[in-house]
Amino acid sequence: MKVLLVNGSPNGHGCTYTALKEIEKTLRAEGVETEMFYLGNKPIGGCLGCGACKKLGKCVQEDVVNKLLPKALEADGIVLGAPVHYASAAGQASCAYDRLFVMSNGAFANKLGAAVVSCRRGGASATFDQLNKYFTISNMPVVSGTYWNQVHGNTPDEVKQDLEGMQNMRAIGRNMAWLLKCIEAGKNAGVALPEQEEKIKTNYIR
Ligand SMILES: Cc1cc2nc3c(=O)[nH]c(=O)nc-3n(C[C@H](O)[C@H](O)[C@H](O)COP(=O)(O)O)c2cc1C
Repeated sequence: MKVLLVNGSPNGHGCTYTALKEIEKTLRAEGVETEMFYLGNKPIGGCLGCGACKKLGKCVQEDVVNKLLPKALEADGIVLGAPVHYASAAGQASCAYDRLFVMSNGAFANKLGAAVVSCRRGGASATFDQLNKYFTISNMPVVSGTYWNQVHGNTPDEVKQDLEGMQNMRAIGRNMAWLLKCIEAGKNAGVALPEQEEKIKTNYIR
């Protein structure tokens, strides 16, 4: 059982990292393997909508997102982290996550997902909502905590002082570990993964 935690902040060891680290610690204490993935601080382009990834299995934009895809594919759970920039996920994170999920082409189905956001003051729940939508369009069960998954602060030290936020991070870690173990136990007991129907796509006119 492995969980990939993605730091979608340009700050490698900032607030988002601090929140993710708390989840990671809890997962490890529960015996779950983890890997932290940093998107870096270079510009990341948005999805070009060219559809080339469907044929190539990777993006024509050769950057960190192509390195993220195989790690996400092999993980049983994915935690997407992002700082709040203007009440939405930071630009690089938005671009990377759009492209990651387009490239996944449905292959993340049945992996667990959890979203974590960090902000100084406002826009957290809008950003949390934004990130959760990647999971709910992908047949991914969403792991919750005890609140909307946000921490508050401009520095890692401030985030550590957000005791309720940090407690929620630990709850996410425990809940994710528990669900992973339940899924594993279900598999061993012969519970099959849900069948997926062929996707119907309409544009509301027909
Ligand atoms: C461009 C930019 C926009 C921001 N917009 C918001 C915002 O809308 N609401 C907020 O509360 N904090 C905002 N912040 C502050 C960050 O969300 C906050 O400091 C966050 O915890 C940083 O996380 P990081 O250290 O992982 O990058 C913004 C920061 C930057 C750089």
